[in-house]
Amino acid sequence: MREHSSVQKVMLITGGNRGLGLAAARKLAERGYRVILTARNVTAGEAAVAAIRQCAPGATVETMQLDLASFASIRQFVEAFHAQGLPLHGLINNAGLMVVEKQPKFTADGFELTFGINHLGHFLLTHLLLPDLLRSAPARLVVVSSQTHMAGIGNGPPVDFDYDNLRAEKYYQPEVFYKNSKLANLWFTYELQRRLAGSEVTANAVCPGYVPATIAEHIPNPVGRWIFKNIVTRFADTRTVEQGADSLVFVAADPSLEGIGGKFSTDGRLISSSPDSYDEAKAKRLWEYSCNACGIEHFGAPSGVV
Ligand SMILES: NC(=O)c1ccc[n+]([C@@H]2O[C@H](COP(=O)([O-])OP(=O)(O)OC[C@H]3O[C@@H](n4cnc5c(N)ncnc54)[C@H](OP(=O)(O)O)[C@@H]3O)[C@@H](O)[C@H]2O)c1
Repeated sequence: MREHSSVQKVMLITGGNRGLGLAAARKLAERGYRVILTARNVTAGEAAVAAIRQCAPGATVETMQLDLASFASIRQFVEAFHAQGLPLHGLINNAGLMVVEKQPKFTADGFELTFGINHLGHFLLTHLLLPDLLRSAPARLVVVSSQTHMAGIGNGPPVDFDYDNLRAEKYYQPEVFYKNSKLANLWFTYELQRRLAGSEVTANAVCPGYVPATIAEHIPNPVGRWIFKNIVTRFADTRTVEQGADSLVFVAADPSLEGIGGKFSTDGRLISSSPDSYDEAKAKRLWEYSCNACGIEHFGAPSGVV
């Protein structure tokens, strides 16, 4: 279904070169959006654009380079985006990392990689692009989180958000750090929505469901990868890449969510996130920590919007 509008809406999606980001970028391009998909690898971004154009001839889609593990790269990306003079009607913070190695890795700025990419990099990106969203409003921010931040969901130990261990000072467990980053995504979304009250920009979070087809690509062992791709994908609680991407597209573009913010969604419906994710004091603390970490004085500057 194509959007019927005289102005072509611009949608930016991070990590659009593969997986759920690529499928969501294609679906949005098919609906008539001008899609900018970011990739940290330029060749991978160009291949994704070619793949979308093959499925959807006439689609308006382009790629731009962005490495969310580097504040300098994020700032360069935003400068390059601004140089195009485009409006921005939607920003989908989709890129995500779950480290498989048992040793922690760090961003260019010294933060643990999972938290650095999944939360902090997107926090800075949103800060720099918020004036664009406000100028182009109505506009939407979509944060791709995960239900694994909730007790009893996902592999490994539960979420353990500890400011004294954000850089793995005490211990490192990849699943825990992933879950922590996805809880941070929710605190960020809900706090931003509170700060955006009265504006026409909304912030919502989404979980694509459990999509083993994209996780399989990260399994180094070929046998394990094959099992994941061909057997685990048939489990009842799983979603295909297409279904997972539909969850993202629903939050980014469905007319029923016009003007609605501060929600969590999966499978095209609104759901509750963990009780902890609604803790306003914890959200505020993360906000202050993140501003400090990213060197932000007023979020949404230069006008100090929120
Ligand atoms: N798959 C699931 O079951 C599932 C469940 C819940 C939530 N999610 C969330 O859904 C989102 C998409 O996941 P996916 O399953 O599609 O994973 P994916 O196939 O691994 O795609 C992840 C994307 O993030 C990009 N990325 C990684 N590190 C980056 C960096 N430093 N800078 C910029 N981009 C970077 C990747 O780029 P490269 O190609 O260069 O690595 C890739 O484009 C993530 O936020 C994930 O946490 C997934």
